[in-house]
Amino acid sequence: MKVFSGTANLPLTRKIVEYLDIPLGDVEIYRFKDGEIFVKYNESIRGIDVFIVQPTSPPADNILELLLMIDAARRASAKRITAVIPYFGYARQDRKDQPRVALSAKLVANLISTAGADRVLTLDLHSASIQGFFDIPFDHLYSSAIFVDYVKEIKLVNPVVVAPDVGSSKRARAYANRLHAELALVDKKRSIHNKVDSGTLIGEVEGKDVVIVDDIIDTGGTLCIAADLLRKAGAKKIFVVCTHPLFSGKAVDRIQESPISQIVVSDTVFVPEEKKREKIKILTAAPLFGEAIKRIHNEESISSLFDL
Ligand code: R5P
Repeated sequence: MKVFSGTANLPLTRKIVEYLDIPLGDVEIYRFKDGEIFVKYNESIRGIDVFIVQPTSPPADNILELLLMIDAARRASAKRITAVIPYFGYARQDRKDQPRVALSAKLVANLISTAGADRVLTLDLHSASIQGFFDIPFDHLYSSAIFVDYVKEIKLVNPVVVAPDVGSSKRARAYANRLHAELALVDKKRSIHNKVDSGTLIGEVEGKDVVIVDDIIDTGGTLCIAADLLRKAGAKKIFVVCTHPLFSGKAVDRIQESPISQIVVSDTVFVPEEKKREKIKILTAAPLFGEAIKRIHNEESISSLFDL
C-alpha cells in the first residue's frame, strides 16, 4: 500500500500517513508557466495498492490534478487505485431541478471513473445518492465519528439538534440519535445560490442549547441565518458542527460576529492561517481516513467503523 497526496491538502495527507505509520508516497506535481499540471510518480507503483488523497475543493484545478494522478497511476500499472476525496466538490449540482443546467456531480463521477479509479473513499457527501453516480465500489464515511465525542464533552444543556435546511435533516437526525437530543429544522428559502433570503424555524428551542449540523460552510449565510432565528426563538448556547469548511468571502468574519458560540469543522479542506478565528475549532479527519484506508487495504469492514 502507498498513499500519495495532491496539492490541495498536504497537511491532512501527512496526518493520514502518520496514523498509518508509513512514509508519504513520492509524487512530483508542478505547473507549466501557463498553469498546465504535470504529474509524475518518483517511485515504482507497479502492482501496488495506491491511495490518492485530494479534496476537490476550489479551485477546479484540484479536480484535474486528481484525474491526472489517477491516470498516471493507472499507466504505471498500480494494482488498485482508490481516490480518497475528503471533500467531494461540485456535489451541489446533483439533480436537474431546473431546465438547461449541468449535473456536475455526475460529470465529476464519470471523469473519476474514466481516469481509472477502482474505488472511491469520501466523507459526508452533500447528498448520499451521489454514490449511485459511480459504478465502482464507493465507501462513504460519516463525520459523526469525528464530532460526536467532542459535542458530548462540552456538556450542552437539553440540547436540540438543528438541521439548517431540509437537505440536512437526515444528517441532523443521525446526530440527534447519537446525542439523545430532540430535532428541529429551519425551512430555508433561497432565490439565488449563496444567498439565503429567509428561514422559518420548525421545533422548540426556548431555553435550550442547540447544535446546528451542516455539511458545507461556503459563505456562512445558511448558518448565520439559522443562528439568528434560533437566538430570536430563545435558544441559549448556539453550537455548530460542519464538516467541510470552504469559508468563502467574508464567511469567517460573519461567524465571528454571529450569535454562534463555537463552530467545529474538520480538516477535509485546508484552512489557511488568515481564515482562522477564535470561534472556529478544527478537528482532524485523519484517523478516520487512515483507519478506512487500512481496512480497505486489508479487505475489512468499513461499516463497523460507525458502530460507536
Ligand atoms: C446546502 O444545501 C448546503 O448543505 C449548505 O448549507 C450550503 O452549501 C452552505 O452554503 P452557505 O454557507 O453559502 O450558505
